[in-house]
Amino acid sequence: MDETTKIKEEYLKKVKLLKKHNISYYVKDKPTVSDSDYDILKQEILNLEKRFSFLKKFGSVNQIIGAPPSNKFTKIDHLQPMLSLSNAFNADDMEVFIKKINNFLNTNKKNIELISEPKIDGISATLIYEKGILTKGLSRGDGYTGEDILENLKTIKEIPLRIDSNKVPNLIEIRCEVYIGKKDFLKIKDRFANPRNAAGGSLRQKDPKETAKMPLKYFAYGLGAIKPFNFETQSEFLEEISHWKFKTNPLIKVVRDINEIKKQHEKINLIRSSLDYDIDGLVFKVNNLNLQRRLGNTSNSPRWAIAYKFSAEKAITKIKDITIQVGRTGAITPVAKVDPVNVGGVVVSNATLHNEDEIDRKGIRIGDTVQIQRAGDVIPQVVSVDKSKRDKNSKTFKFPDKCLCGSKTIKEFSKSTKKLDAVRRCSKGYNCNFIAREKLKHLVSKEALNIDGLGKKVVEQFWDLNLIKEPSDIFKLDYNKIKKLEGWGELSINNLKLAIKKSQIISLDKFIYSIGIRHIGQENAKILASFFGSIKEFTKLLDYKNREKILTHLVDLDGIGDTQIQSINNFFTKEINTRIIKNLIKELKIQNYSIQNTGGKFSNKKLMFTGGFQNMSRSEAKSIAENNGGKVLGSISKKLDFLVVGGSKPTKKKIDQAKQLNIKIILEKDWNKILNS
Ligand code: IVH
Repeated sequence: MDETTKIKEEYLKKVKLLKKHNISYYVKDKPTVSDSDYDILKQEILNLEKRFSFLKKFGSVNQIIGAPPSNKFTKIDHLQPMLSLSNAFNADDMEVFIKKINNFLNTNKKNIELISEPKIDGISATLIYEKGILTKGLSRGDGYTGEDILENLKTIKEIPLRIDSNKVPNLIEIRCEVYIGKKDFLKIKDRFANPRNAAGGSLRQKDPKETAKMPLKYFAYGLGAIKPFNFETQSEFLEEISHWKFKTNPLIKVVRDINEIKKQHEKINLIRSSLDYDIDGLVFKVNNLNLQRRLGNTSNSPRWAIAYKFSAEKAITKIKDITIQVGRTGAITPVAKVDPVNVGGVVVSNATLHNEDEIDRKGIRIGDTVQIQRAGDVIPQVVSVDKSKRDKNSKTFKFPDKCLCGSKTIKEFSKSTKKLDAVRRCSKGYNCNFIAREKLKHLVSKEALNIDGLGKKVVEQFWDLNLIKEPSDIFKLDYNKIKKLEGWGELSINNLKLAIKKSQIISLDKFIYSIGIRHIGQENAKILASFFGSIKEFTKLLDYKNREKILTHLVDLDGIGDTQIQSINNFFTKEINTRIIKNLIKELKIQNYSIQNTGGKFSNKKLMFTGGFQNMSRSEAKSIAENNGGKVLGSISKKLDFLVVGGSKPTKKKIDQAKQLNIKIILEKDWNKILNS
């Protein structure tokens, strides 16, 4: 029997069993398995479907666990990005959050007002009202572009189609979370893995009549675009929209310090299970909208909000084996294969052991009974080991010193901590098949080329079939071969072709992020893009004759340090990387990086700051300069246009250097004047 037939038979056997259990449970009212065994079976089926897309054509499981969502929606750009939230897992993290806010705003006002709201575990959507009429409804999508799901959203009875109030602004965007109540879910639970999936699937039905059959509800939680601006605080906004008949959550509270935060977190955690909707934590937001605006965002999340998660769900299980995984930077991560166990509604069979040092520290062995935990979307992890249950014959785990590709792994020496890194790495880069595959997954991911339909599983499948071995292969796919694969119909192939074509036009910053240089995340990629400006300038890095000189200039950039420069150098020193990048560039149309706010007060100017400011932190000053079209440098050079000198402890040497080079000096009081002008 070939592999495909084996998988198919295993799958159909499981589906048949699940159907049998369903009949026993729903029709005969006599369950034949425990809830957790049922969950495990259901998850195994879902896992098989995820891994082997050809199984979809058997269709039978769709009747049991819901129809796959359609991807036939028109894409629309968001008026303002829909970001995600950073997480806090304990009170210390919350204190750090408050401290960072105070530092950024440079206030000593310790008691900044925060609003606490439950974090609803559903699907986010945004509603746009023009002159009070609901005109657009979008899904989150990748955060920058959403899908037009207006007709589906309109089927949710409690969403107002028009706002009857004379206070309504010309344009207002209301952000909300769509969910299915726990009780309602019970009626449909045989068709979906959990309420969140059910809500997501229903919202993305092609036929709104199908959506209308689902018991969808929502809570409005946020303000997107608004013209004219007319609210002072988040609590005032929520209060007002509740008069406009939007559903807002009743469990909100304004808090002022860490004790009140802790109290609210404990209080809601206690009543969490009695609520009719799933929540996975509380969102704390700076209440004042003007302060929110000042705080702004990092690449992915606002500085003014955080999700304080409830404690992770835990479970006890046994380690069957320890394997290793190789990441795109070569990091070797040990993974415990455990007896499948239900952790807060999700069946877990793999849990991370982080790194070699962590295994040593916890003294973990194969066969050990361990506690694992799963918090939110993070990968489940092994938290502790119960040594009293250990088999006497078990042996200490010897961490493999070779990568899966067979080459030696090393622990690097960190200059900053003056210690050996806890993580072992394979240093073969693209020459290691395992790293190369992970690099490809990074390349196609949402934040990079963002190719719909070319997810991680498909990359693996195409890799195994030798269809993609390096980035440029994505643009030369042999569709005749793909056509013959199970699960690839004309429609899905056309969608893939379209998505790949779309990805070929890419901005310079995304391109730099996509190629996956270690230590160059989204933020650093933007800094580099603004330095190079065009792909033509960036490619000069590929030539070793220019590289050294360019790298010395990078030191000037605020945010780029030795670690990043070293890493860029390492990356381009490897011939295989330059070859791969050159091939990729040929396939793309890389657009020049333009600073969004070209009309700003510091448009195309280079600034540097020294000394502290009275009304704002250095970070805020920097972000203001950038939002006004300026570039912030980290050292004095001829290129600099302005040195902005704060009143508190400026560096005299810098001022002298600037004077020598005839660089214009802006004193704090003038800086404030410019900002207010
Ligand atoms: S505020 C910039 N408030 O959580 C993001 N989000 O991880 C501001 N969510 O996409 C989000 N309840 O789908 C906010 N009360 C609440 C929320 C909430 C649920 C979801 C939302 C968002 C995700 C962020």
